[in-house]
Amino acid sequence: MKFFVDTADLDSITEAKDLGILDGVTTNPSLMAKQGISGDKNVLDHYKKICDLVEGDVSAEVISTDFEGMVMEGERLAEIAPNIVVKVPMIKEGIKAISHFTNRGIRTNCTLVFSAGQAILAAKAGATYLSPFIGRVDDLNWNGMDLIHDIAEIYAIQGFDTEILAASVRSSLHIVQAAKSGADVVTCPLKAILGLLNHPLTDIGLAKFLADHKKANS
Ligand code: E4P
Repeated sequence: MKFFVDTADLDSITEAKDLGILDGVTTNPSLMAKQGISGDKNVLDHYKKICDLVEGDVSAEVISTDFEGMVMEGERLAEIAPNIVVKVPMIKEGIKAISHFTNRGIRTNCTLVFSAGQAILAAKAGATYLSPFIGRVDDLNWNGMDLIHDIAEIYAIQGFDTEILAASVRSSLHIVQAAKSGADVVTCPLKAILGLLNHPLTDIGLAKFLADHKKANS
């Protein structure tokens, strides 16, 4: 399973990259706004900085909701760097745009996915990645992980190539469950990745090893 970090913060991206386990980055308009990035030029410049920082795929989301607008924006984003993936919302015009980009060799990430039916449509349109939003489904007291499981089953039966990118991942447990449910990629804040390190027996064991070593060498 690939690990993407879900942020537009260059420090977090650098920290994740330094771990040596980073496969890519996802962003969205809210994450860009959180970093105070606004205005067309600043947005494009910021994506360029992220693309220069990581070798893996970087998802950059279109703001337009009409086909022509999405195509114009997506083509401009795709010119930034070869590792840009154009992120397109799961709406009718979005599916049209994903088909268009697929036919032109521009890679896409279909975002805001909340059902298996939407996942089938995105795969039919040739999306490179599909982003089902786990945490936002959980927020409604449904099981977001069931969605990953269902989509993984359908894609395997149908032989779809679209990669399942578990998004809206809020915790370390989500990462483990997404891996178990068949996600190809997980995107999450750095905190959730670092949380995978935690186990009290590791801390207790390490303290004992170091204490025994100190005793034997004093
Ligand atoms: C990433 O591609 C998504 O935009 C992101 O994971 C959404 O996460 P949120 O539901 O925590 O905003």
